[in-house]
Amino acid sequence: MNSEFVLIVGGAGYIGAHTCFELLVSGYNIVVLDNLSNSQKESLKRLSTLTGKEIDFYEVDIRDSRSVDLVFEKYGFSSVVHFAGLKSVGESNSFPLKYYDNNVSGSISLLKVMDKYNVKKLVFSSSATVYGTPKELPIPETAPTSTINPYGQSKLLVEKILVDVAKADPDWKIANLRYFNPAGAHFSGLIGEDPKDIPNNIMPYISQVAVGKLEKLSVFGGDYDTVDGTGVRDYIHVTDLAKGHLAALNYLNSSQECGFSSFNLGTGKGVSVLELINAFEKASGKNIPFNIVARRQGDVAACYADPTKANKVLGWKAELDIDRICQDAWRWQVNNPTGY
Ligand code: NAD
Ligand code: UFG
Repeated sequence: MNSEFVLIVGGAGYIGAHTCFELLVSGYNIVVLDNLSNSQKESLKRLSTLTGKEIDFYEVDIRDSRSVDLVFEKYGFSSVVHFAGLKSVGESNSFPLKYYDNNVSGSISLLKVMDKYNVKKLVFSSSATVYGTPKELPIPETAPTSTINPYGQSKLLVEKILVDVAKADPDWKIANLRYFNPAGAHFSGLIGEDPKDIPNNIMPYISQVAVGKLEKLSVFGGDYDTVDGTGVRDYIHVTDLAKGHLAALNYLNSSQECGFSSFNLGTGKGVSVLELINAFEKASGKNIPFNIVARRQGDVAACYADPTKANKVLGWKAELDIDRICQDAWRWQVNNPTGY
């Protein structure tokens, strides 16, 4: 169907591996490049088991332009999907240079090689974090952007660089995907999120409480102006998110003129922390002990997407609800209690 190769940068990671699956089953040929700083080759082995296809993999850092160059020389890439980035907000506050170097310098390095080989179709992983404290809900792509931590700043900086790149050269086609809260796992239970340390994000944290690895959940804040006082987020199933990348890639391949375009990938529905705990208890049959504690610094009360643009332009819509997210997250956790 698609004889050209798509380079999946950061494809061994959580969202990357799920996207590789969707691209492979849709007939795309892929090559994965990843430095394995936050992932394991096992995710790719399992992808091969699931799809029956071998995956060409290169253990390379995107900042190592000579090695990236060699990979581009070997394949005639049609496009790049770029997931490679560090993603911990807390760590970014402690090590800002590490984040700017990896996420910003890394992206510039990758873009330069793409430019050299005339590969000008890019799907980029951005984040709803670029909206800062939302002024309106649901959040449209036209909402003002602002960030308060180096991680968010690194995403916004790359977005701005991409805007300039597309402005300077109309041959570039860039789909900038702003993810809301990715969660859940592949239905097979074979691929999922595999955090190295104690998780920062709520979903893997709850899973580890349910399986008995962690004692109890701290709910950060019970006095927000929300449905039950706890933080509200737009949890999107990672399979829906992966399908959003497929839709974005198809759009770049079929559209004549698109330049730089941002898309919210979210469900449009807000779920509170207490609602999430309930859904997880139902899916797992386990009790999730929790304490309501002080708000976490930097958290907003509520954040959920207006996904209309992605619905209309990409023909994409999230299909899976919070119950399904919890069921799949739980299957992954039970089948892989120590990760990959
Ligand atoms: P992940 O850590 O599982 O995946 C990122 C992958 O990139 C990993 O496999 C890692 O080894 C690789 N990588 C990192 N730096 C690299 C480098 N310099 N060179 C080569 N490979 C490198 O994270 P994820 O959850 O799959 O996130 C993917 C992308 O989506 C990231 O850019 C992240 O910032 C963004 N994002 C994630 C979330 C989320 O909640 N998971 C939300 C919004 C945006
Ligand atoms: N929460 C808890 N206890 C925890 C962890 C989180 O109560 O142990 C709460 C938070 O206060 C928030 C909600 O659960 O209300 C979600 O928190 P996460 O840490 O899971 O996710 P965030 O919304 O803070 O941030 C995530 C990613 C960011 C990304 C953002 C938008 O971590 O990188 O979604 O995509 F930018």
